[in-house]
Amino acid sequence: MSKKRVALLGATGSIGTSTLEVLRLHRERFELFAISFHSNVEKASKIVDEFHPEYVVSTSNKKLEFENQLFGIEGLKTVAHEADIVVVATGGIVGVFPTIEALKAGKRVALANKETLVSFGNIVKDVLRNSNGEIIPVDSEHSAIFQLLDGRRKEVKNIYITASGGPFRAKPVEELQKVRPEDALKHPTWSMGQKITIDSATMINKGLEIIEAYHLFDVSPERIKVVVHPQSIIHGMVELVDGAFIAHLSTPDMKIPIQYALTYPERLSSPAKTFNPFEISQLIFEKPDFEKFPGLKLAYDVLNEGREYPAIFNAANEEAVFMFLRGRIKFTEIPEIIRRVLENNPGFDPETLDGLLEADQWARQEAKRQAERLT
Ligand SMILES: NC(=O)c1ccc[n+]([C@@H]2O[C@H](COP(=O)([O-])OP(=O)(O)OC[C@H]3O[C@@H](n4cnc5c(N)ncnc54)[C@H](OP(=O)(O)O)[C@@H]3O)[C@@H](O)[C@H]2O)c1
Repeated sequence: MSKKRVALLGATGSIGTSTLEVLRLHRERFELFAISFHSNVEKASKIVDEFHPEYVVSTSNKKLEFENQLFGIEGLKTVAHEADIVVVATGGIVGVFPTIEALKAGKRVALANKETLVSFGNIVKDVLRNSNGEIIPVDSEHSAIFQLLDGRRKEVKNIYITASGGPFRAKPVEELQKVRPEDALKHPTWSMGQKITIDSATMINKGLEIIEAYHLFDVSPERIKVVVHPQSIIHGMVELVDGAFIAHLSTPDMKIPIQYALTYPERLSSPAKTFNPFEISQLIFEKPDFEKFPGLKLAYDVLNEGREYPAIFNAANEEAVFMFLRGRIKFTEIPEIIRRVLENNPGFDPETLDGLLEADQWARQEAKRQAERLT
């Protein structure tokens, strides 16, 4: 069997690192054909020394001592076009460009990057429909639902994506004002990059996930439910019309869904620790608290509104999270800034990539303006 050539975009990040662990275990199946990095030259150099990829893409002005080096969006598109499987694990909206390129070239996209579907879902789905490419979700909840649906459509009543509830699940709402970045970065069950960890603390991560689920599974927004499950053992559930629920369980380890996206429909042994039911005494389920986590409610609103609203929601959130991490705004101001930005939307063309990119840029500037007004 010839080895599949993998382009790992965002190789230096948290998903990138877990993907490398999977590739290390299955060297007979996969070859690391290309990587991309943004700022972490040291980590990128180590990956090159170990895996000897054909190409390295830098998405910033940083360079490695490496001959086949490509740059920016064009570089991402080139390697996405050439690889067999493209793991899109960069942060930010840049993920949309290699995703579209890979789909057009009929490739498999193992999609971790949330922004691609949240901000450009309709456009990406159009490309997908007219291509021989495929998207296999990497996000644990979507991987779970993808596996559970397995061709079922008509019999599905609702889908449930689980949320750990983040570090402030049990904190009284009045105390959230005082939360510092270092408190919000302590996730109880998952180890992830900084941005997504803050999104988990505001539960906006779950909001982004319901929008992704809508695009991936063609299920109407009211049939996508969020259930708080602090153990993070069940990642998704599907409720069937006859009242049966089927659930997907595993340890909270991204290596499991990453590997599945690479090997689908096959399953191979995994470097992750396996789930032991005898170590878990109870599985808890709670309703999400929309008053305490207003960002989650906003996500349902923008999904129902459609058009450019999800792109604005995503961009305003990203800016607000960066401002919170830099100590510029309070934790509770993140959803407030997003709400204000959404309210001021002057209207953009949601049918084109350019229109949505314009909405994204506007939302970032508007988020900064709103932050100045708050202080
Ligand atoms: N972590 C998880 O468990 C998880 C689960 C599901 C989905 N996701 C999604 O997967 C994506 C990556 O998450 P992560 O937690 O792995 O993030 P991360 O640890 O922050 O890593 C982000 C990666 O993207 C690169 N990057 C940063 N800014 C970039 C830019 N402007 N253009 C291109 N590349 C850029 C980084 O390069 P440098 O490090 O070299 O700067 C790094 O390789 C996000 O969309 C996230 O929502 C993550």
